[in-house]
Amino acid sequence: AQSLAALGLRHGLQVGTAVDLAALNDANDPQYRRLAASEFSSVTAENAMKWESLEPTRGVYDWAAADQLVEFARRNKQSVRGHVLVWHNQLPTWLTSGVADGSISKQELRELLRKHITTVVSRYKGKIWQWDVVNEAVGDPWDTPSTLHYKGFWAQNLGPGYIADAFRWARAADPRALLFYNDYNIEAFGSGNPADDKPQFVYDMVKGLRAQGVPIDGIGSQGHLGTQYGNYDTLQVTAALKKFAALGVATAFTEVDVRSEMTEAVQAGNSAEINPRLQASAANFSVLMKACLAVRSCLSYTVWGFTDRHSWVPGWFTEPPQGMAAIYDENYQPKRAYHELKSDLIFA
Ligand code: G3I
Repeated sequence: AQSLAALGLRHGLQVGTAVDLAALNDANDPQYRRLAASEFSSVTAENAMKWESLEPTRGVYDWAAADQLVEFARRNKQSVRGHVLVWHNQLPTWLTSGVADGSISKQELRELLRKHITTVVSRYKGKIWQWDVVNEAVGDPWDTPSTLHYKGFWAQNLGPGYIADAFRWARAADPRALLFYNDYNIEAFGSGNPADDKPQFVYDMVKGLRAQGVPIDGIGSQGHLGTQYGNYDTLQVTAALKKFAALGVATAFTEVDVRSEMTEAVQAGNSAEINPRLQASAANFSVLMKACLAVRSCLSYTVWGFTDRHSWVPGWFTEPPQGMAAIYDENYQPKRAYHELKSDLIFA
């Protein structure tokens, strides 16, 4: 049977996965390596390129895991989505505590960010296809204040101007990498009012950046979905990609997964509760794939981990417990979602 990668290439679409480096290195888990290498044409480091992983001690970079991912991709003729240069999570403690106690000034912080971006992008110059330059800079409608705004550590300390700076620094270090803004809950437009509609806020932001000549090449829509929330409609999602594309940027689904509530019956293996979840999960994966296939600008479709054996979901969503978010189960058996993605790629 053909891999997702091979089927995607028929459409010029890269099908990718996030890679957990610990799993990749686990000698007792050869299936993980085998599938990561054979099913996907693109890889993303799930954690290994984040600032806390790269520079745990100030001034001392540890490239081992990130280098390994890039080398794995080279060996398997895969492209790499670099993730992530600027994000408010998984920052090194020396950085956040230095800012908190005032030992790192705002001016120094901006310089540290410039150096970090330049160092990381330069190291992998020519080896990264798409960089997530800025990740999750925009709040959600359920935040306080509820009017959408620039959120998090970087906006608080440097103001929203850090976004334009980050893209310019990244471009200077690797002029050929595609530079992305990446975020969640932007799969489909709502009211169209940027005060409460996150995709509209992102659209206006990117439009403004482009108008100022900021080098931003793409919008990454993460695609973290859940079966308890109901399905998006393919036309709705297609329309969102087209609207972003009309700004002159590429698009991509960058972190797709579809989680489900793990009720006691699900955990006990009750198929009357499991089957509808598998079905709804497949439908959600498929909506994003169909939309991506319908829009020329959509360059890649990446799942955020491919197996329930190694998934961020159960560790993150515990009340109530959630899981079953990937396209392979814990024993590396392909689930309905996997087959659905394949048929989308075959029949498109
Ligand atoms: O490395 C430590 C390990 O030493 C320790 O023993 C263990 C105990 O908890 O924690 C390990 O770190 C964990 C790390 O993943 C590596 O496994 C952190 O606790 C855990 O919080 C971290 O979670 C990651 C999460 O980002 C944190 O922000 C997930 O793996 C990763 O999938 C997730 O990815 C994000 C994207 O980058 C951006 N978009 C949303 C997406 C999902 O949250």
